[in-house]
Amino acid sequence: MKTPIRVAVTGAAGAIGYALVFRIANGDLFGADQPVALQMLEIAPAMKALEGVAMELSDGAFPLLTDMVLTDDAGAAFRGANWALLVGARPRSKGMERRDLLQANASIFAAQGATLNAEAASDVRVVVVGNPANTNCLIALSNAPDISSGRFTAMTRLDHNRAVSQLAAKAGVSVRAVRKVTVWGNHSATQYPDAYHAEIAGRPAPEVIADDAWIREVFVPTVQNRGTAVIEARGASSAASAANALINHVQSWYGGTPAGDWVSMAIPSTGAYNTPRGVVYSYPVTIRDGVYRVVEGLRLSAYDADKLGATGEELLQEREAVRDMLGR
Ligand code: NAD
Ligand code: LMR
Repeated sequence: MKTPIRVAVTGAAGAIGYALVFRIANGDLFGADQPVALQMLEIAPAMKALEGVAMELSDGAFPLLTDMVLTDDAGAAFRGANWALLVGARPRSKGMERRDLLQANASIFAAQGATLNAEAASDVRVVVVGNPANTNCLIALSNAPDISSGRFTAMTRLDHNRAVSQLAAKAGVSVRAVRKVTVWGNHSATQYPDAYHAEIAGRPAPEVIADDAWIREVFVPTVQNRGTAVIEARGASSAASAANALINHVQSWYGGTPAGDWVSMAIPSTGAYNTPRGVVYSYPVTIRDGVYRVVEGLRLSAYDADKLGATGEELLQEREAVRDMLGR
């Protein structure tokens, strides 16, 4: 039997956690022959609920789930972890922007970055989901000086999937026909979902859509504000679609991207396309053998460049607001 991959999940008894851990136990991240161990972290008041989640995992009799750790001690949760999925944090409610969570959640990610630094496996890969995800990721990586910053990412895959879905619906095709979508920048209302470099059934998406006003006035704001729309409809922030996107993010990072396509991932900024350095910025990336690379050579229009700049500016402002939490 293969050695189990150890996956730490924070906030495992929360709404996303509940939609996530059963899929991990089922083998959705690494395939049907790869055992997994779940190391689940919660805060003390939620430990009872976490025990209930563990009872249900046990009742699922998942053949790939070798063992479970249930703890309110981040050190125990991150010990030997090969993957750390940092979900646990406060979600926003109606009327809040994601950046309003910055002060409430920043200290969680400073502490967890330091604990990952001390406890995680040397090959750890980290995905930050808790909002505001990009800047929380920056905080975590800057408190983990011994872990290469390239091992830290934040999730914009939900926005990416939303964009794919909107384009497919508009063109009247399956989501399978939509490729090369990019979400640039911050997981916030300033993000830039880019249809101009996308393809639908192998043709340039703008040509297939043939409605530039729709792209700028409907598509872009719909994707930017989809989280808010879900909160307004459900009375709670997206959970199952977020868990699904997190599964997709890890699948891509672990298994690679298909030829002729890319995915959106927020990574420590490379400065590509004139983006600011020193922030965690979402780019189009291809992935092979666990290594991601920003797609090069895309031609940006003045409209694109303006959008990339605006979301980069917001990330710089968020970084300024948490400067005292940045350890390196
Ligand atoms: P939730 O309130 O249902 O669950 C969060 C869980 O985290 C709770 O069980 C809570 O006890 C736990 N928690 C809080 N502080 C913790 C800590 N220090 N250590 C461990 N666990 C802790 O919220 P949710 O709906 O699961 O959302 C979680 C986060 O994910 C929120 O910040 C939300 O805004 C964010 N989110 C991000 C995306 C994205 O696309 N990046 C999408 C959806 C939600
Ligand atoms: C989302 O995009 O659905 C999440 O980030 C939740 C939110 O606050 O919008």
